[in-house]
Amino acid sequence: MSKKLAIGLVVLSLSLVSTSAWAKDPAAVYKSKCAGCHGPAGEGKMGPALKGTSMSADDIASLLAKGDPAKKAPHNKHFSGATAEKAKALADYIKTL
Ligand code: HEC
Repeated sequence: MSKKLAIGLVVLSLSLVSTSAWAKDPAAVYKSKCAGCHGPAGEGKMGPALKGTSMSADDIASLLAKGDPAKKAPHNKHFSGATAEKAKALADYIKTL
């Protein structure tokens, strides 16, 4: 195997790990991307509590994937890294908080 190809494979596998983290380990994604504002257990901090939210998983997923211009930052825009599929995995996790 050429050195270039080997490096290419490493880069590819690393990027696969980081893009699938949302779906595979939503708890870790929540911790790194959301907990700072919503609290480690979804109890709320500068952002509202997500624990026991009345929003459905689909509404949460849509808020993350598309953003809502009526909401305050950061949710007035698409949340960085949140595709529809990843956002759904995270939203399902939030409903378990
Ligand atoms: C920079 C701080 C910040 C980060 C990071 C953040 N949020 Fe928020 N979030 C807020 C604020 C502030 C609001 C309230 C916005 C409003 O009502 O206008 C909010 C609202 C929400 C709501 C709506 C709650 C409700 O009942 O109306 C959901 C769901 C939500 N955030 C999920 C997430 C998720 C999931 C992440 C991680 C991917 C995340 N947030 C990251 C600050 C943050």
